Amino acid sequence: MADLDRVPVRADLADVVPYGAPQLDVAVRLNTNETPWPPPPAFSEQVGKRVAALELHRYPDRRATALRTALGERFGLPPERVWAANGSNEVLGQLFQAYGGPGRRVLLTRPGYSAHPLLARVALTDTVEVDLDDDFALSAQTAAAAVRRLDPDIVCVANPNNPTGATVGLDVVRALHDAGRALVVLDEAYVEFADPLRGADAVTATRLLDELPRLVVCRTFSKAWRMAGLRLGYLLAHRWVVDDLRKVRLPYHLDALTQEAGLTALELADEVTAHVAEVAAERDRLYAALHEVPGVHVWPSAGNFLLFRTDVPALFERLLERGVLVRDFSDKPRLAGCLRVTVGTRAEDDVFLAALTGALAEAASESGP
Ligand SMILES: Cc1ncc(COP(=O)(O)O)c(C=O)c1O
Repeated sequence: MADLDRVPVRADLADVVPYGAPQLDVAVRLNTNETPWPPPPAFSEQVGKRVAALELHRYPDRRATALRTALGERFGLPPERVWAANGSNEVLGQLFQAYGGPGRRVLLTRPGYSAHPLLARVALTDTVEVDLDDDFALSAQTAAAAVRRLDPDIVCVANPNNPTGATVGLDVVRALHDAGRALVVLDEAYVEFADPLRGADAVTATRLLDELPRLVVCRTFSKAWRMAGLRLGYLLAHRWVVDDLRKVRLPYHLDALTQEAGLTALELADEVTAHVAEVAAERDRLYAALHEVPGVHVWPSAGNFLLFRTDVPALFERLLERGVLVRDFSDKPRLAGCLRVTVGTRAEDDVFLAALTGALAEAASESGP
């Protein structure tokens, strides 16, 4: 069929690049911030049993009541203050649809999670940005000034941030909230890795939920909960947010299998998340090792990934040739020369470190004595 026959896509979407890191079949995949280990066998066994008992000819519970109740119980909140959808990306997209739209704008950080501006754009919402400082920190003063200057309808900040791994303090959350009138969304996709010894409580904004009436906290089962293949994310907020999101969600948006898997994960929470401390320790080992490599600048991270900078041309490709896939940010604003590596198993990370050393040596030999 000739291209002439095609219907033109919405004009404002014509130059959109579909979101997604390359999915390549290589030995060591450290590019999408998943946990390297699958969920424990008890999880898969129980999900299998529960799914076998489902009436799959019937629609799922449209309100996901059991799942939202179980989630709420973890945070001392009623189900009316919990919302779940297909990954936190869908939760964020629904928030942008409900509170963005024509004539409205969302304030994002630069650098920040690259899906945020895309989700905003699809929801016809303008993006405005606040620059993080050179160490990717955001002070309460800068945050408040940006909100006052730009008067956003939504503020969306990843904490810990992706790809930088930096965190913001609760004073920043308060400043973002109190300086304006916006819905303040904290995207806490990686929060469980932030402080595994004291628990996510050390970083999370959930404890401000009752104090700040326009605060929303988004979480996911894709990272610390090891369920990226299942697509489950959720938010905690005030009741009116949940009521509003029901206006934009698709009918029966969350399938019965995912609801059962989420319930099972919550019942087995300790086993499913048991590896988090190990991932954080391995992150710190990898940080220390990268810190020692000449020509590499690495930033401290509270997530399960590390951002690092070199001046080596085509480092992403050189690593790929050595069987290691990382995420390339080298042509992104404020991130020149930067790559992001997900914390893998110790063995995977050692392969990455060897590949990096090899690639740096190769580049040095090309540039001559
Ligand atoms: C900051 C941040 N938020 C949200 C997501 C989306 O996670 P999911 O849709 O799998 O829940 C990611 C995934 O990489 C992320 O980095």
